[in-house]
Amino acid sequence: MSDPVQSSGGGEALSALLHETRRFPPPPEIAAQANAQPGIYEDAAKDPVAWWATQAERITWDTPFERVLEWDLPFAKWFVGGKLNASVNCVDRHVAAGRGDKVAYHWVGEPDGETRTITYGQLHAMVCQAANALVELGVKTGNRVAIYMPMIPETVVAMLACARLGAAHSVIFGGFSAEALAGRILDADARMVITADGGYRRGAKAALKVNVDDALRQCPDVRSVLVVRRTGQEVTWEEGRDHWWHDIVDRQPTSHEPEFFDAEQPLYIMYTSGTTAKPKGILHTTGGYLVHCATTHHYIFDIKPETDVFWTAADVGWVTGHSYIVYGPLANGTTSVMYEGTPDAGGRDRWWRIVEEYRVSILYTAPTTIRTLMKWGEEYPAAHDLSSLRLLGSVGEPINPEAWMWYRKNVGRERCPIVDTWWQTETGGILITPLPGITATKPGAAMTPFPGISADVIDNDGIPVGKGQGGYLVITAPWPGMLRGIWGDPERYKETYWSRFPGQYFAGDGAKKDDDGDLWLLGRVDDVMNISGHRISTTEIEHALVGDSRVAEAAVVGASDATTGQAIVAFVTIKGDIVQTPEEGEILVEELRATVARTIGPIAKPRQILLTPELPKTRSGKIMRRLLRDVAENRELGDVTTLLDPTVVNMIDEKMKARAGTDDDT
Ligand code: PRX
Repeated sequence: MSDPVQSSGGGEALSALLHETRRFPPPPEIAAQANAQPGIYEDAAKDPVAWWATQAERITWDTPFERVLEWDLPFAKWFVGGKLNASVNCVDRHVAAGRGDKVAYHWVGEPDGETRTITYGQLHAMVCQAANALVELGVKTGNRVAIYMPMIPETVVAMLACARLGAAHSVIFGGFSAEALAGRILDADARMVITADGGYRRGAKAALKVNVDDALRQCPDVRSVLVVRRTGQEVTWEEGRDHWWHDIVDRQPTSHEPEFFDAEQPLYIMYTSGTTAKPKGILHTTGGYLVHCATTHHYIFDIKPETDVFWTAADVGWVTGHSYIVYGPLANGTTSVMYEGTPDAGGRDRWWRIVEEYRVSILYTAPTTIRTLMKWGEEYPAAHDLSSLRLLGSVGEPINPEAWMWYRKNVGRERCPIVDTWWQTETGGILITPLPGITATKPGAAMTPFPGISADVIDNDGIPVGKGQGGYLVITAPWPGMLRGIWGDPERYKETYWSRFPGQYFAGDGAKKDDDGDLWLLGRVDDVMNISGHRISTTEIEHALVGDSRVAEAAVVGASDATTGQAIVAFVTIKGDIVQTPEEGEILVEELRATVARTIGPIAKPRQILLTPELPKTRSGKIMRRLLRDVAENRELGDVTTLLDPTVVNMIDEKMKARAGTDDDT
């Protein structure tokens, strides 16, 4: 495990700490009206469990819970005895309260001009039809359903239809390969897949169904595939197994009598990268997760459902989309924008056109996108009326103070508070964040645990560090949205999160308490990289590389990158004398990059692969990744005394420097 303060991603944040940090107090007009008023922290701290019980009143329970928390470390049950239906909470109850005409989603397609407006009433009908269709196709309570979709309303409908039936969904980001999809379908033992013919990505039609067909060659137990027609592209069809959404869903009744499930009924499994080659199926259940999403969404984004237009600019295929495009906003009866495309589809001002047109009031996105927008220039936001915005959010990776300031000035026009929210797939919802209306924010700092959450920064021995010191971030008490386990692997759950510091949840992140005791997140301290806010494991990529029979050994590191936060750099040794000339080397490198894209997905494609005769190893044979990261980041090499042969790393360093300028870094 690397030194948390030295770990990548935190360098700039840390250097900001060394200077006097500016603070931005909440604007008085936000503070006066804010959902979270001073006193909320004290209220929650008096009795956090009781505080969460009060928050649970935000959602509708068919049967009230008997106990708030059963904590058998590290296994938690929240709202024990309570029964509810997540889809009823997200949809039916708003319609029943007379808000059926309220817009749930303003959907904006990637192709310019393609839009759909979906009210809560329409969403209700769509979810009921989809639930009826799933029943017809044999889905039962307790099953798992894989969803591999583009960013279209049917994706949300599919998720809610599963939730309505008590079948756990497992949404797999559309950028994952057939191979990755198959691994997840098998691990979750999903018997049904919901997909589309394809989706739009950067103006082109990307295929999805073809990947499902490929994946299912390895998944004989999948009985049915439900396919949305999105792009109209050619698909192959397996009679009996494949069904068009428009054939089956559209003819169903628009009502469906819901059942109510135990608070701990599995709601979804989301696969995420860990430190081994096999992704972990993070399990979330219904009651606690929904309460967590609704509560954090209400306070952190200061949601006023009557007037706000909320936009989480993320993909539904990641946890940010689950919690803050789907479950949190819908539970709170919010109007959201859902945008299918990339920020520059149809022009570099596409986002600002969307903000202007829909009068978006709250925008939530990732630092990597902010840095890209920053690179394009301030003229794009400047050309649009962004006066509807009143609050901005950031998530997914440490935000460097420069990007934070750019966001504040050019998007927030110096008026909007910024909430830098720290959380993970595992945490289900936000845990560390400022509260608009209360917190005087600091550029680059996530600041304070949310009310009802206990977090700390501890040293190697588990002792809390003092102000001005760095260490490992831990969460010291259970919270409602916490993962309930790793699907099918309770031992790995205990080992991964609860064994490093017994009794405390180890997040895998380094953090620092500043002189005021406020928290700064410094990036991962394990072998997990953060590429454009996506979590990717170094081991998973190494595994993909050595899967090529020509590769003897591979070591992957995340090197800091000005736009994507980290970039993937791989060092590879080749068997025998396969590569004779530089040209052959270049061809092989391209083939290996393609292999990684095929095995995991294009997001995991290394920026650079360096072929090298040897890797730097300690006397005990361990690859020294720390030194390889120095090489990849073009830094002075650290301590080489423990190496078996220090000349190896010098040779790699020289090779890397010689390549600099000749490589295509894309
Ligand atoms: O390293 C932290 C980083 O993203 C990791 C979680 O990734 P994932 O499970 O994919 O969820 C991303 C969206 C919630 C964390 O371990 N991270 C997330 N938010 C922040 C962050 N790092 C610094 N600051 C943040 N605000």
